[in-house]
Amino acid sequence: MPTAKPPEEATTLDALRRAAASCTGCDLYKRATQTVFGEGNPRASIMLIGEQPGHEEDLAGRPFVGPAGRLLDKALVQAGLDRRHVYITNIVKHFKWKEKEGGKRRIHEKPGRGEIEACRPWFDKELWLVQPEVLVCLGATAAAAILGPAVRVGTARGRALSSPQGIRTFVTVHPSAILRIPEDAERAAEMGRFVADLRRASSRSGKAARPSSPSRRPGSGSSKGAPAR
Ligand code: URA
Repeated sequence: MPTAKPPEEATTLDALRRAAASCTGCDLYKRATQTVFGEGNPRASIMLIGEQPGHEEDLAGRPFVGPAGRLLDKALVQAGLDRRHVYITNIVKHFKWKEKEGGKRRIHEKPGRGEIEACRPWFDKELWLVQPEVLVCLGATAAAAILGPAVRVGTARGRALSSPQGIRTFVTVHPSAILRIPEDAERAAEMGRFVADLRRASSRSGKAARPSSPSRRPGSGSSKGAPAR
């Protein structure tokens, strides 16, 4: 059955992913190929949060596998992080796009507040299930969704902030912003700052997977109160 909200019985990431596949909570599903749910280590200490899937992600059904994702992968390696050990997701899980060049190209269009709000229950439940120690907001849309609309990447960057759930939160640029820098030296410098941001976030977390503790898992015990840290 199509859903616009996570069903209560979806108490694992796999169940949540399956339920999200038929989400009709806003109109974006009508023009997107598929829902692009988060992926990675379900016990990750670090959750990286982007805006929404792009063209390649929409086709592949996986987050951050296009040009921005390839840059992110390089940065993760340089920061000493393994993509398989973190959890990567987006605030909005359908690709919003407009046509360019007579319909030949699909161009990213920023999600609106209504779409972000409609998608929010999926992210909230994802967060509740993974229970990361550290959040990394990639760009302004993720930062505003987590920390509120007043947050600015430029001023929030480099500081350990706290999400409303009490999770340590870092803000950095979106990898696509680095790709858009035309000048090589400037782009390389920004990449260096991005890697430093990821390294800082990683140093404030357990880095990889946390040891399994079944009593903390919402699907295997009491679901009350998580993740209130
Ligand atoms: N940009 C994002 O914010 N997320 C993706 O998954 C890909 C590009």
